[in-house]
This record gives sequence, C-alpha cells and structure tokens, in this order.
Amino acid sequence: MKNWSLIAVALVAGAMLAPSDGVAQTYKKQTIMAASANAPNSNHGTVFNEFKRIVEEESKGAITVKVFLGGTMGDEVANVKQLRNEELHIASLFTGNLTPSAPIANVLCLPYLFTNMDQAHAVLSDEGFRKTLADHVVKESGTRPLGWMIGGWRSITNSKKPIKTLEDLQGLKIRVSPTAMQLAAFRAFGIEPHPMAWSEVLNALQQGVIDGQENMYLTNEEQKFWEVQKYMTEIHYMLWTGAILVSDSWYKKLDPDTRALVEKAALAAQMREWSSAEQVEANAKKLTIENGMEVTIIDPQEEERWKEKARGIWKDFVTTPELKALSDQALAIIAAMPKK
Ligand code: MLT
Repeated sequence: MKNWSLIAVALVAGAMLAPSDGVAQTYKKQTIMAASANAPNSNHGTVFNEFKRIVEEESKGAITVKVFLGGTMGDEVANVKQLRNEELHIASLFTGNLTPSAPIANVLCLPYLFTNMDQAHAVLSDEGFRKTLADHVVKESGTRPLGWMIGGWRSITNSKKPIKTLEDLQGLKIRVSPTAMQLAAFRAFGIEPHPMAWSEVLNALQQGVIDGQENMYLTNEEQKFWEVQKYMTEIHYMLWTGAILVSDSWYKKLDPDTRALVEKAALAAQMREWSSAEQVEANAKKLTIENGMEVTIIDPQEEERWKEKARGIWKDFVTTPELKALSDQALAIIAAMPKK
C-alpha cells in the first residue's frame, strides 16, 4: 500500500467515528440533491455512485441521493452558486472551476506545482493542509470541500496539427476553463485562450469555434473527443484535481449523525476515485490511441521552456498571505516526500 493510502485510510477511519458510534442510528427521511456537469462514465460518476451507495445503504433508505449528471443542473461554476443557495447539496467539479468563488483553491492549480500524482496524494492527504484549505474555501465561497479528486495531466488536444513545441501552439484556438490561472498560463505560452463553460466544449469543437482544449485522457474518453480531435500532446503543467463540495449552510443544519454519514460517504467516494485513477487514465490513453488520435509526449527539454513561462505567473497569483502560506505548506509536504 502506498504511503498516501495509509494516511487516507486513517482519514476515512476518523470520519467513520460518528458521535453516536455503537448506537443504532436513525436518520430523518430526506433527499440529497447531487450534481456534476460530467457524464456517468467520468470520475465524477464514480464519486457519486459510491457516495449514493453508502448514504442509502447506511441510512437504510431513509436518505435518498438524487444524482444529476451530464450538466442537467448547469455548468460547474453554476453548481457552486447552487450549493450556496442550497438548490444543490453536493457537487463535484474541477478545482479550476471553484477558483472564481474561492481564489484560495488556486493553490492546487499553480502550474508545475506537482510533478507526479503521488505528490498530489500526499498534499491532499495531509490533515493540516486539508483543514486550512477547507476553512478558507468555506469562508470565500459558502461551500465546503469534504473530499478531493485527483486525475491525470491536463494534456492539449486539437484538430489541426501535432504540437511538439511552443511555436506549434501559436495561432491555435484553445479552450480553457473560465479561470484566471489557466488564462494566464496560456497567455504565458503565447496565445490568447478561449474561456468557455465545460458544458459547451464538445459543441464548440464540433462547430469548429475552437480548435482544441486541454483535459486528461479520461475526459477525452468520456466525451469521445477523438471524433472531433486528431492530436493530443502530453504536457505536465497541471494535474487534474477536483473538489467534492457540499453547501455549507445545509451541512451546518444537518443533525450530527447525518453529517457524519455525509462526511464518511464523501471521503469514501474520494478514496474510490483515488484508487482507480491511475488505471482508468492508462486505459483512457489506450482508447485514445486506438481511436486514431496521434499522441505526442513533449520532449523534457522542450517542456522546460513551457515550465519557465508558466512558473512566471506564480507571482501574480500568490499575492495574499493565505495563498502564500498554503502554497508553502504544499511545497514543504512535497519536499519531505522520499525521493524516488
Ligand atoms: C474543465 O475543463 O472545465 C474540467 O476539467 C471538466 C471536468 O470537470 O472534468
């Protein structure tokens, strides 16, 4: 078992200790409204399957989890607002799409912060880091992260040509999520990116409004982007991470047993996603190639140029004492990891 798994198992075990442990719990009949802008075959689908299973089984059907997938409740930025208004109780989204409401979440989107998945696991397993991040997210957005998702690298796809160098990227119309960090990163790479809600991307690619986008292999599979995209370039500027968020005002009103069950189910859902992410990503890469996409793995020396440019934007984002402290904490956790 990897180190992060042990820590995460401890986190889940902690969450399992409901205040009335050992006593049969009864739950008030209620419905939890859950949403994701992604399809059932995404990592968001995995999270909500697990969350629903645990909550419904353990409450013996008293609590029903109604899951809306595929963007039927709107895009990810809208989902954050719906949580704040309690129109939704729980939602999962790419961390970048949380940053307009909770700028502190930029800490997980700092380009080239992580150089492998294990580092993200270590940072997001650290109780101190999780708590500080959660406290700030609650304060800034009125939503509370109860879990974090970790996927693959956000690689660039496009319909025009292989991208092997920064020069190849120039002139392409690339969609990014409407978040300041991604816009700044692509401007640093020398192009003006197109910010767009996630739910509009497939259509925009089909219509040729944009040439490409950037996301992990699993998203490529989920959307069958190979039907409209020919080229994929693996770069490592940002690892896909996502938040499992609840409405904080709703969460605070829950009775202690229900709150403990929701916490436990969200953490278990996180762990379910973490345990399959690497394999799922490898499989999605295989399918991407089998379905005819040409994959370029960027040359490490060339990527140093991308890295230098993207790291240049850190100073424009790490401007508050809170974000500075949290990014220093993340860097310290990474630095303390055993070298491979
Ligand atoms: C995005 O590009 O907006 C997100 O990565 C979509 C997602 O949540 O998977």
